[in-house]
Amino acid sequence: MYMNQCFVKLVLICVFLILENESKNAGASNRNGKFFPLGWGIGLVRFENSVCGGADGFEGTCYTRRQCNEIGGVGAGPCAKGIGVCCIIQITCGGSSSYNNTYFTSPNFPTPYPGGSTCTVTIPKCNPDICQIRIDFLAFSLAQPDANGTCTTDAFYVIGGASNVPVLCGENSGQHIYVDFNGDSDIQLVLNTNAAATAASRAWNFKITQIGCDCPTKAPTGCLQYYTALSGTVRSFNYGTTGPQTGTRQLANENYGVCVEMQPGYCSITWGTSPGDMYAFTVTGNTNQAVGNGTIGPPSALSNGNCTTDFVVIPNPSYVNSSLVGPNTDRFCGNGFNSVTSKSLRK
Ligand SMILES: *[C@@H]1O[C@H](CO)[C@@H](O)[C@H](O)[C@H]1NC(C)=O
Ligand SMILES: *[C@@H]1O[C@H](CO)[C@@H](O)[C@H](O)[C@H]1NC(C)=O
Ligand SMILES: *[C@@H]1O[C@H](CO)[C@@H](O)[C@H](O)[C@H]1NC(C)=O
Ligand SMILES: *[C@@H]1O[C@H](CO)[C@@H](O)[C@H](O)[C@H]1NC(C)=O
Ligand SMILES: *[C@@H]1O[C@H](CO)[C@@H](O)[C@H](O)[C@H]1NC(C)=O
Repeated sequence: MYMNQCFVKLVLICVFLILENESKNAGASNRNGKFFPLGWGIGLVRFENSVCGGADGFEGTCYTRRQCNEIGGVGAGPCAKGIGVCCIIQITCGGSSSYNNTYFTSPNFPTPYPGGSTCTVTIPKCNPDICQIRIDFLAFSLAQPDANGTCTTDAFYVIGGASNVPVLCGENSGQHIYVDFNGDSDIQLVLNTNAAATAASRAWNFKITQIGCDCPTKAPTGCLQYYTALSGTVRSFNYGTTGPQTGTRQLANENYGVCVEMQPGYCSITWGTSPGDMYAFTVTGNTNQAVGNGTIGPPSALSNGNCTTDFVVIPNPSYVNSSLVGPNTDRFCGNGFNSVTSKSLRK
């Protein structure tokens, strides 16, 4: 038995003064403030539990003040012309929430979290027609992996879903992931943190959006990340924003899909590196060249198929130099990258 918690259709409350206001502009378009006069000047005002903007960029859902209290939310400003309150749902370690736009923060966020325990939250579907969640890492700062790229100090896991989510750590603010529900099972988000390790700025704030099975923004199966803009930047996890670090920033044992939505009138994507950033493409795998010098992947390498351990696959690439054909020419690794165009196989 589900409560429809993503979007409770309508709320009924009795307001007299609002009725007076509303009657002045009651028209065909007045969907958010319908009223039904009952006689004695008392009316029922209804409003939709739509998404609203709260303080500090937090998104909430428009509820009555009482409902917001009942579900453990925090009111952040008025909505529905002042009848409702923009209700922000925030959970932390040990919590559970099936509400759309739930925020999962580290204890006392944004104060750094000392760590030392396992922090788990549970995300059930808000109704049976939900297939997926999107997790926006608004803030994600955990300890760095070890020199082999393994998340041995801090680690973030997703369990219970149908998607294969790699273990993450390090700096991932601004990144996002999509996780499919596995039937009716809940999805659990787990953070293991090590109190002994110094991670001065360890803190997180994730926004969890529930996505309906027939929702146009649902990411296709196999896409851990999904981009829909005409241009943008894709970063690997723990890419960070500064130059090279001690050890490695590349996480070990990652195998995931990054998808870009096909836009009407477009049939290919050109991938390149950010100009002037000599560290923009540094992927281990059969390379001992200095960072920023040389390219192991095509098109400079005719030694195609040399990327055997770690690589990025860009499917169906087309090269300026058509002599570059052969097995594994869709693999890219090493310390350089020349732009490549990937043509859609869809007609
Ligand atoms: C959850 O909220 C987002 C907006 O933040 C909206 O696009 C999405 O449709 C909502 N999900 C459901 C199931 O209502
Ligand atoms: C990295 O892996 C190598 C080979 O398995 C191992 O010898 C080494 O101790 C590892 N380093 C760390 C920091 O775990
Ligand atoms: C790498 O390239 C720079 C110029 O782009 C050059 O100064 C440097 O000597 C090169 N390093 C190696 C190891 O080839
Ligand atoms: C690629 O592999 C071939 C042998 O398979 C080797 O001869 C060649 O040097 C390699 N190229 C690079 C750039 O490592
Ligand atoms: C294509 O690459 C091969 C090998 O590097 C080279 O000999 C040839 O000149 C290139 N052709 C063009 C048009 O650049």
